[in-house]
Amino acid sequence: MDRIIIQGNKPLSGTVKISGAKNAVLPVMAATLLAPGEFTIHKVPDLRDTRTMMKLLNMIGADTTFDNGTLTIDSSAANNPEAPYDLVKTMRASFYVLGPLISRFGKVNVSLPGGCAWGPRPVDYHLKGLEQLGAKLNLESGNILAEAEELVGTDIYFEFPSVGATGNIAMAAVRARGTTKLYNCAKEPEITQLCEFLNGMGANIKGIGTDTLVIEGVNELRPADIEIIPDRIEAGTFLIAGALLGEIKVADVKPEHLENVINKLRQTDCEIKATKDTVSIIPPDNIKPVDMTTAVFPGFPTDLQAQWVALMSLANGSSVVTDTVYHDRFSHIPELARLGANIKVENNTAFIRGKKSLVAAPVMSTDIRASASLIIAALAARGKTEISRVYHIDRGYENIEQKFKRLGADIYRKSD
Ligand code: EPU
Repeated sequence: MDRIIIQGNKPLSGTVKISGAKNAVLPVMAATLLAPGEFTIHKVPDLRDTRTMMKLLNMIGADTTFDNGTLTIDSSAANNPEAPYDLVKTMRASFYVLGPLISRFGKVNVSLPGGCAWGPRPVDYHLKGLEQLGAKLNLESGNILAEAEELVGTDIYFEFPSVGATGNIAMAAVRARGTTKLYNCAKEPEITQLCEFLNGMGANIKGIGTDTLVIEGVNELRPADIEIIPDRIEAGTFLIAGALLGEIKVADVKPEHLENVINKLRQTDCEIKATKDTVSIIPPDNIKPVDMTTAVFPGFPTDLQAQWVALMSLANGSSVVTDTVYHDRFSHIPELARLGANIKVENNTAFIRGKKSLVAAPVMSTDIRASASLIIAALAARGKTEISRVYHIDRGYENIEQKFKRLGADIYRKSD
């Protein structure tokens, strides 16, 4: 198993190019199942998760070709509307095929994802939404079997603006008969991109980027091409590293997707300059402690909570971080504690007392963003840190160690 080795406390400088967004490309890949034909997707990050989604599309019968960031999907021969447990349990986003498959085939057999390292993460909104569109659902051996001769538009209210449920139900509804109104929708840029892609395929979705989507069902969809938006979470991860370690610039980004993160970083006394597609950060001598509460977009993303906790571990004072999106997403904290961080967790809140320095230790990745948090802490710590189970980070960050190396970090990967 690969490990990442970091000799910490080395300054960073330079520019890092941000890859296409994992959480944008995964639903777009699933959406190609909606209509037979050839789709071209540009700026696709080479990640374990995008590879898993390709594998799933192949099992469903689609052809995929991936070359230098360009992914071609031919979904003409797709004929097997199933997503097995083996894939869904390694990547919950596999569940995104539910909506497209029931829309195209009138039936689908998708494994229930089960729990994850940081909580139950149910899919009840997805299932309730499908039922409201007229699908009959059964649970058999851990799989959801859904069937619908025809989906029929209706009004659906999400209890929470779930990213996945909004995407899945929008994909199910684009070819439903009549009008579907989705209330309390997710407004994350990745969902906006998915809806724009669906409209590019011939769907009729109005209200994109707002919390109400109005979807007029259409009879037919056609293939379309798309360029994936920059990964705002990857960009935020590098900016947070810069806040501790040196003047860096993230390029190929959309600063408007990072407004809340930029504001919070400014409150820590970092100097930030943004252009149309770059954000530069100049760190202060001392990071000012800043409380943070995660929220749905445009709030501070839960996917940067772990990285923010790493930053606050080295702030000049105490801070409080609350995650309102997930209530148990703190598996990075015991590992950060091994590096000397002083953090207490109560329910969904972390109380952090900043320290002057962290000290290297062997630590373990537990999920994608926890790993990113450990990399940031290890880059700032004194001594050599070894991070194990880095397959988690490979799920969501493209060439992270090469990117940090180019910024001046002493970081490398060791394969056994
Ligand atoms: N929820 C329910 N029922 C549902 C769906 C969601 O109770 O049917 C709850 C969840 O348990 C959670 C909250 O609603 O407490 C938000 O979950 P959401 O559905 O929005 O999350 P998701 O679609 O499963 C996506 C990202 C996550 C990111 C969240 C929140 C993808 C592939 N995943 O997950 O990304 O944390 O939105 O922004 O887009 C990551 O990239 O590391 C990652 C975990």
